[in-house]
Order: sequence, then structure tokens, then C-alpha cells
Amino acid sequence: MASFTIGYLVGSLSSTSINRTLSTALIKLAPEELDFTEIPIGNLPLYSPDYDADFPPAGRELKAAIEASDGILFVSPEYNRSIPGALKNAIDWGSRPWGANSFARKPTGIIGASPGGIGTAVMQSSMRSVLSFLDAPQLNSPEAYIQFNADVFTPEGAVTNEGTRAFLAHYMEEYSAFVQRVLAANAPGHIGDPDVT
Ligand code: FNR
Repeated sequence: MASFTIGYLVGSLSSTSINRTLSTALIKLAPEELDFTEIPIGNLPLYSPDYDADFPPAGRELKAAIEASDGILFVSPEYNRSIPGALKNAIDWGSRPWGANSFARKPTGIIGASPGGIGTAVMQSSMRSVLSFLDAPQLNSPEAYIQFNADVFTPEGAVTNEGTRAFLAHYMEEYSAFVQRVLAANAPGHIGDPDVT
């Protein structure tokens, strides 16, 4: 069976991150054709255009990791009703220098957990604007706004509630199918290929 490489970014730098726990759960529940590699964001300097002429190693590694991935998955908290600064900084690095946007045409998914009932919905809305601007196709449905409950997620990423487990497994199946659809559409010779049309 073909396999697909998924780079995932955890939008929290917290050592006790519930979103990291969610990412562990998602990897366990994902279909077997997906292979996951974390793309770390915690070692990046704050982005400045001054770096554009000569990106530092952390910026180069981030862009190379995004470009080497078949798909990108963002697993992130909501900070002050928006995208956490560390994650937005990583996205800014990946988007530059101008003309070398690593996210272009890259299939993406957005999911996040919060102790609150809104479950990162407002952060995800912000992310959709950012990723649209970056020409990154996004899984639109299902949406996944996770209210985190420590009784449901073990630190090792087991999900003890059957309904939650089934929902997250379904999300990852749909994400995998979406990644494969976008890769097919991006393939050379496809109708959307500028060399063909
Ligand atoms: C939060 N939190 C939060 N939660 C939420 O649902 N909406 C929000 O806008 C915010 N804003 C916010 C800002 C900042 C600076 C912090 C530190 C926290 C609470 C947040 O959901 C909670 O701390 C989660 O545990 C964060 O996810 P991680 O870091 O545990 O993955």
C-alpha cells in the first residue's frame, strides 16, 4: 500500500500540552498509510524579513520539513481567540522568502483542543484565513473542535470514550483521503498542471 508522509506542528510549547496529547492520540488512530513526523517550532527565532537573504538553519530545516511532507497537520490550542504566537511565527517562516512559500498547494488539516467548550473554533477560523492566503488547501469537513477532558485522553494518547475515539478516527480517515485527493490533483500532467492547460 502507498504511504504518505505527514508533518505535524503542535502549536503549544507547554511541557504539559493537551494538544500534544491530542496529537499522540491522532497518530495512534490514523489509518496505516499515514507516517507522521513532528515539525518542531520551538527553536525558531522570531521571523524578520532581515533573514530573507540568508535563512538560519532552524528556518531552513522548517521549510525543508514542510516541503518534504505530503501533508501538514496543525494541532493547536487557541490563544486569546487566535493562533498562538509560536505557531504563527513558524507559519511566517514557512511562507517566506517571498516567492518561496513552502505551504503552496500543500494539503493541510487543522484540529485543536481546549478545556473550554469552544474547542479552538476561533483559532481554527483564523488559521483558515492564513492558509487560504498561503494557497494551502484545507480539509473543510469534518471540522474538529475538541473539548479536552483528562478522563477521556490518557497521557499516552489512548482515548477511553468510544464516541470520541470513533470521531477522531473518522477525522483522520477523512484527512488521509483529502491529502490523497490533493496530491492527485497536484500531480504532473493533471488538468490543473500549468504545463498542460
Ligand atoms: C489560553 N487558553 C484559551 N482557551 C481557549 O479556549 N480560548 C482562548 O482564547 C484561550 N486563550 C489563552 C491564552 C493564553 C495565553 C493561554 C496560556 C491559554 C487556555 C488554553 O486552552 C489552555 O491553557 C490549554 O491547555 C492550552 O493548550 P496546551 O498548551 O495545553 O496544548
